[in-house]
Amino acid sequence: MKTTTQALLILACTAAVSSAYPFMAEPGAADHYLRQARSLHSSGAADVEVKRALGFDAGLQRVDVSGAHAFVAPGSGDRRGPCPGLNALANHGYLPHNGITTLAQAVEATNTVYGMGVDLATFLSAYATLIDGDPLSLTWSIGGEQSSLLSLTGLLKNPQGLSGSHNKYESDSSPTRGDSFTHGGDVDSLQLDMFQHLYGLQPGDSGGNYDLGVLTEQARWSIQKSRAENPNFFWGPFSGIIVSQAAFSFIPAFMSNHSAEHPEGILDQNVLKSFFAVSGTQGKLSYRKGYERIPDNWYRRPIGIDYTIPGYTVDNNLIQLQVPERLAVGGNMGSVNSFAGVDLSDLTGGVYNLQSLAQGNNAVCLAYTSLLTLTPDILKGTLVDVVGVVNNIVGQYITPQFASLNCPSVKYYNKDVFRQFPGARGAF
Ligand code: HEM
Ligand SMILES: *[C@@H]1O[C@H](CO)[C@@H](O)[C@H](O)[C@H]1NC(C)=O
Repeated sequence: MKTTTQALLILACTAAVSSAYPFMAEPGAADHYLRQARSLHSSGAADVEVKRALGFDAGLQRVDVSGAHAFVAPGSGDRRGPCPGLNALANHGYLPHNGITTLAQAVEATNTVYGMGVDLATFLSAYATLIDGDPLSLTWSIGGEQSSLLSLTGLLKNPQGLSGSHNKYESDSSPTRGDSFTHGGDVDSLQLDMFQHLYGLQPGDSGGNYDLGVLTEQARWSIQKSRAENPNFFWGPFSGIIVSQAAFSFIPAFMSNHSAEHPEGILDQNVLKSFFAVSGTQGKLSYRKGYERIPDNWYRRPIGIDYTIPGYTVDNNLIQLQVPERLAVGGNMGSVNSFAGVDLSDLTGGVYNLQSLAQGNNAVCLAYTSLLTLTPDILKGTLVDVVGVVNNIVGQYITPQFASLNCPSVKYYNKDVFRQFPGARGAF
């Protein structure tokens, strides 16, 4: 993509990016993890093995939840949305308490508190800025709509935030959030029956471990439930096969508590409930919306083995090899259990097919290709100059994160294949 240098773009971007983006220059950790993850792939527990090898440092891994980072519940004007990881950051002052973050703040907070790789965090935050945020001020909302300076001109629509990003970011078949269509558009609230299902995958109320294998079972249950209950279920090539899997793998990768005895991390019932704003015991759980909380005495991933795009790719393939429904792009045709798949070859002019999608970087590459074709909220207005800003964000923050994957180029991408699905709004 070429950057169109226009007055607007220079104005908008110099202010916000001038801090030169210090976290971008840290490539070593990703490569290191990728090599180790690949060699351990067959064990099905790459992340676990790598963490064991690295050990534990209580001083460095303990996350401060006191003083400026003490839990403060959101007030009525504060935005919270479908992502418990981000909601917790805002509740603890690692992100602005009002739930509107800059592109850079979200990268720094997710990297510092959870050990999310700078590549992954930069891509996720830049994509949020672009697709449902304000690309001019480089800000976005972790929940509902935010106002944008440009929308005051009346020419542009307000950015809709993560809560309003159905099929562009937010997706059906999440771990604990309901599908948009069957929940009247409420994709933010945890559904207790879904959480109870996840919680019940480990017995009792203590001593469990919600690891990737457990989350893979929840992923299977959740997509079968969506196909069986949501007539408008839709599973897109970006929101479905990548973002939604991430929602599952992020739970053990980022929420586990680490210790000297268990440097690989353990995610037990109490820690899981705290991050999901749930209390109570098996069968008697209750949810307090907006109260996602980082537990006291909680120790994050080891410093130096951030969870990167290549590391995530390994986990994504592991889930999809075991749950093939999660690879199948397509949707229900207006009634339950009427799933029809899209021929990926038709979608991509022959570059991808279902058979090889769970191998190597294919799924992540297809998602990367697809995301570049989605329409940012802000472009739904008529101000042509914004195109330059969009291209700049893609070129500066998104494309570089995928360079090492050597994704094949797709010359022909036919989004019309999605028009047949009643629930595909936003996906084309
Ligand atoms: C810039 C960083 C991030 C962005 C832009 C982001 C965005 C999102 C979005 C759009 C969803 C909805 C996906 C869906 O509908 O399935 C989501 C869900 C989720 N995110 Fe995040 N996220 C980020 C970081 C994190 C982190 C650091 C964690 C973990 C600590 C996390 C954990 C989750 C989980 C567990 C869900 C699924 C919620 C559920 O349905 O139960 N995310 N995130
Ligand atoms: C994390 O693990 C350590 C060591 O076992 C323990 O002392 C601490 O209480 C745990 N934290 C949480 C939130 O469970």
